[in-house]
Amino acid sequence: MRTFTNIFITGGAGFIGSNMIRYLLSKESGFSGRVINVDALTYAGNPESLSDIAERFGGGPAPRYVFVKADIRDRSAMERVIREYQVDAIIHFAAESHVDRSILGPEAFVTTNVLGTYTLLDVARLYWQERYGSLSAAPVLFHHISTDEVYGSLGDSGYFTENTPYDPRSPYSASKAGSDHLVMAYHHTYGLPITLTNCSNNYGPYQFPEKLIPLMILNMQEAKPLPVYGDGKNIRDWLYVEDHNSAVWTVMQKGRIGEKYNIGGENEWENITLLHRLIDIVAEETGKDPEQLQSLITFVKDRPGHDRRYAIDCTKLKTELGWKQSVSFEEGLRKTVRWYLTNSAWVQHVRSGEYRTWLEKNYNQR
Ligand code: NAD
Ligand code: DAU
Repeated sequence: MRTFTNIFITGGAGFIGSNMIRYLLSKESGFSGRVINVDALTYAGNPESLSDIAERFGGGPAPRYVFVKADIRDRSAMERVIREYQVDAIIHFAAESHVDRSILGPEAFVTTNVLGTYTLLDVARLYWQERYGSLSAAPVLFHHISTDEVYGSLGDSGYFTENTPYDPRSPYSASKAGSDHLVMAYHHTYGLPITLTNCSNNYGPYQFPEKLIPLMILNMQEAKPLPVYGDGKNIRDWLYVEDHNSAVWTVMQKGRIGEKYNIGGENEWENITLLHRLIDIVAEETGKDPEQLQSLITFVKDRPGHDRRYAIDCTKLKTELGWKQSVSFEEGLRKTVRWYLTNSAWVQHVRSGEYRTWLEKNYNQR
């Protein structure tokens, strides 16, 4: 089993990255080293998501948690951090992550997701080469976080496996596919020790409320329309964020170098059916009338190029490394609803200025 001392996490102020830091610094992970969180704090990054972690682990002579505000496209900043903290593992979450934003403004997706990933790979390669001589024997790891969207869209049957050819269809998924190819190329060409995971849709606490589940919970709370794209029959495979992170950690410790692993919930839902379930849970948790909440459902103009169905086959991860999901959808949805209903200060802060402009831009034209 691989062990690490100084883990450099990019995008740790975002949804999945902040949950990963929380997981790594909990007893459950067994990790006893230091986490260096590097994040540019775009609209999606919020250090408040980790304020308790910074308080518990960020002080004293040997802090286990360090935050550095920096952009992954800034080569000299990346070099400085990797050297200063003698990084031996990188978990690369930082990305522009919202499909609708990639349709309305693709440039940041190309620069962060493709050029930013290239910059990190190159800085890591040169630093580790200098430190260990040969890269292939170096006790280091670059773990890249990717998505099932790189595989394209499925019809009514079939699943994405690790051998499914890439067929990205939005600027977001194309930029993620580009970053995946670069990661693989750095392994094959230079021997950089890498692992890569492609995960399905995550949900849980600290997700920015532009994404389906938190957007719907908060709109229900405020009796605002619940905007369903197209016919609402698009299918996603949902996974609780903690299960994503336990899978990433399993792959980092035990996965084969140079390999990719799919991660999924094995939990497919049509958007509209999911929304009805969410309405029932919000109604139970708040005492609101479910029929009134149903009446807020509004079918709006579809997302251009909207992928119809994603479904992950994660047999490789389960059989080779022994990982499995631990949170049922029912339990995860209820925990998520409760979290958004009780963390209104966090919600208020992330929904300030930029978020309002986004809502106008994305929904007023539908
Ligand atoms: P997010 O948008 O919530 O967070 C992204 C974080 O990256 C933010 O903190 C942001 O400030 C930071 N960031 C963006 N550009 C940066 C830059 N140039 N330099 C430094 N930091 C930058 O995203 P998320 O949902 O947590 O997704 C994290 C990763 O997981 C992404 O790579 C995404 O493609 C992948 N992924 C997400 C899902 C999902 O359902 N959310 C599923 C599979 C894979
Ligand atoms: O599959 C993994 C991907 O999941 C990640 O790579 C992305 O970073 C993440 O954002 C997510 O992408 P989706 O596009 O699937 O997620 P989103 O929450 O934006 O939408 C989920 C589904 O709900 C999708 O079919 C579009 C639909 N939708 C979304 C919004 C925001 C609506 O019907 N109405 C909405 O207002």
